[in-house]
Amino acid sequence: MSNNYLPSDKRYDKMIYNKIPCSGLKLPAISLGFWHNFGSSTPFDKQQEIVRGAFDMGITHFDLANNYGPTAGAAEENFGRIFAEDLKAYRDELIIATKAGYDMWSGPYGNGGSLKYLVSSCDQSLKRLRLDYVDIFYNHRRDTETPLEETAMALDKIYRDGKALYVGVSNYLAEDTEKMSQLLADLKTPFVIHQPNYSLLNREIEAELKPTLTQLGLGAIAFSPLAQGILTDRYLTNVPEDSRAHSSSQFLTEERVQQDIEKVRKLNEIAKRRNQTMAEMAIAWLLRDGVITSVLVGASRLSQLQDNVKALDNIVFSAEELSEIEMILEK
Ligand SMILES: NC(=O)c1ccc[n+]([C@@H]2O[C@H](COP(=O)([O-])OP(=O)(O)OC[C@H]3O[C@@H](n4cnc5c(N)ncnc54)[C@H](OP(=O)(O)O)[C@@H]3O)[C@@H](O)[C@H]2O)c1
Repeated sequence: MSNNYLPSDKRYDKMIYNKIPCSGLKLPAISLGFWHNFGSSTPFDKQQEIVRGAFDMGITHFDLANNYGPTAGAAEENFGRIFAEDLKAYRDELIIATKAGYDMWSGPYGNGGSLKYLVSSCDQSLKRLRLDYVDIFYNHRRDTETPLEETAMALDKIYRDGKALYVGVSNYLAEDTEKMSQLLADLKTPFVIHQPNYSLLNREIEAELKPTLTQLGLGAIAFSPLAQGILTDRYLTNVPEDSRAHSSSQFLTEERVQQDIEKVRKLNEIAKRRNQTMAEMAIAWLLRDGVITSVLVGASRLSQLQDNVKALDNIVFSAEELSEIEMILEK
């Protein structure tokens, strides 16, 4: 692929940017995640095509983590190369996030929420990403072996040392999110965002976390919004050989797809009536009530991302559509 990338001058024409209530920071309604498809097993050209195409559509937010690969660290390295080749001149137009919390390196300091792990991991990530700072640094999961105060101190240090502009948490329950919010408010650290799992097939956050995020004014960026591909047309008739469920992914099995596919077939009938693909409707549904700041999708090819962005053409649901969706999901 040529190294002379010039972003589209129409890149800001269509994307919607949502402001985080407690901050001045805006995120694109659709962001791109690097968990899959950006490791060492995906050709670099393909990765570059997706990232360039994303930025051309106004996707200004890229979400990474120390352990994304395979192998762990590879997605950050590949992003770092794409950034250096294509995006360096546009640094101020980008929101780049990374995280630490899960297993990253051997020994007692490569996992969790300690000051030691988070600060060293952030330093390693910045090297791989070829950045001076990330825009958002997250604690990837709540580590109950570490006092929340220490994790807050680590996020504060990373912010104060100029390595992150904002901080966030992911996979935290409502109660810990509230405590973290108080601790970081006391430290005057810009804690602005939570990254939960949220989709038509995983609505756990609706009971407690979602109202808590609204109450705290925190941004919410929903991960695995398409349930890793189940909420798309990918599996409606079979499990394609080039799909995540067919790969050796430990996170999405064919059995998992079969559990929900009947519901998805019914949901797809509603999507068709709305002139949307299944993926478009699943994304629109997440954005329907204005609480979710950004929907964090994955994509194994640029055409998927182009489809996903079309969701923004219609994020309004009639009361009838919403109750029909509820009925399908309840069964
Ligand atoms: N904080 C956390 O703990 C956590 C956990 C998981 C994910 N995340 C973040 O969330 C991001 C997204 O997660 P995810 O990859 O599970 O998201 P997802 O959007 O639910 O699933 C992405 C997969 O769906 C399929 N797909 C996407 N758009 C499609 C379309 N329009 N038509 C047909 N198929 C489509 C592709 O599957 P195929 O590959 O089969 O083509 C793609 O790889 C991650 O990259 C990461 O940044 C965070």
